[in-house]
Amino acid sequence: MIEPSSRLRDFMTYAFAEVDNAKERARTAGYKIIDFGVGDPTEPLYAGAVKGLQQGAEKHSRSGYPSYIGMKAFREASASWMQKRFGVNVNPDTQVTTTAGSKEAVFHLPFAFINPGDAVLMPSIGYPPYKAGTVFAGGTPEYYQLEERNGFVPSLEEISSVLQKNNRIRMIWINYPNNPTTATAGEDFYRGIIQLAKRHNVIVASDEAYTEMYVKERPHSLLEYSDDWSNLIVMQSLSKRSNATGIRLGFAVGGSELIGLYRKLRTQIDSGVANAVQEAGIAALSDESHVEEMRRLYDRKRKVITSALDDVGISYMAHSTFYVWANVGSDSIEFSKNMLMLDKKNKTGLNITPGSMLAIGNAPDAARYARFALVPSLEDTEAAAQMIRENLKG
Ligand SMILES: Cc1ncc(COP(=O)(O)O)c(C=O)c1O
Repeated sequence: MIEPSSRLRDFMTYAFAEVDNAKERARTAGYKIIDFGVGDPTEPLYAGAVKGLQQGAEKHSRSGYPSYIGMKAFREASASWMQKRFGVNVNPDTQVTTTAGSKEAVFHLPFAFINPGDAVLMPSIGYPPYKAGTVFAGGTPEYYQLEERNGFVPSLEEISSVLQKNNRIRMIWINYPNNPTTATAGEDFYRGIIQLAKRHNVIVASDEAYTEMYVKERPHSLLEYSDDWSNLIVMQSLSKRSNATGIRLGFAVGGSELIGLYRKLRTQIDSGVANAVQEAGIAALSDESHVEEMRRLYDRKRKVITSALDDVGISYMAHSTFYVWANVGSDSIEFSKNMLMLDKKNKTGLNITPGSMLAIGNAPDAARYARFALVPSLEDTEAAAQMIRENLKG
């Protein structure tokens, strides 16, 4: 038998097998399940990006390995999008680098800056690669709480006190708009975290995968709040913005020294992102109308689900992203299991994600919440809302 490494083994123990088993049981019993589980858009990749991909394949058929840091044209398109969207001036030669989507980028980032014994501060409820990347780099995860009483926005006082107590913290992950809580962060939070990070000489890594998924108010970027980016880095992604999860494309932007070291790390990991994929990205970043259309569609689905939750008396957060974070009571695992067989008469059910599955640290509030990813079709979303009204009332 081949033994996994101890770090890998720690990530192989799967605490939520019981939810998967319940899913399997429902399917075996003949249930049709509408899937609000994973945040993977089901709409097609933006048509302009498909064309960019096709033309890029021809254009680059003899290009060989792509550039480690990304094609200049893609870095320029990223920089110019950051300027248009957030009003920040990014130097495409030194302050941006291409990534194969932000998941791997988030995972790999600590490898460039963390030594064994160093710590990384991250949200107690959040995207698992913050933790996995830290652990695989030999670091220790530390958590700040995301709590209902603070609207799931971290308390700067708490972060300040953690930083004072632990001088091994080298990096902080933040993520707004937030998966899964849908919370957004304001200017005070960004300015406060930048100040704290400067004082304690730590890097702020801002995961901005959802900045384009908003309801009314356009979310901001960390980089808007300081002219000194020496300890700031942002991960952007085309995945949600352009339904591009399938082609794996994003970019990191930040201070040139940080980006320079991160680029050095990347030369050890891969050999860049396919040029045709970057051509698709250039096409996607130069068009906003498909993004507006995508927002309108998620808006409709958001209203459909939240009005059903209103009708059955379930409170929720639905400020941004394409999630609805519903307060389903004391045991979200049990609730989610029951949802799989919600309509016994018609043998249909809903798959949603229990909050406890999204807690990466100790997060008591997560156990009372569940996440709907608004990715099924509008028609299926309406059917789900109907099912909620008929079966959860009272
Ligand atoms: C908070 C957050 N960050 C990053 C990502 C990664 O997206 P991608 O790797 O597709 O860019 C996701 C994906 O769901 C996410 O939820």
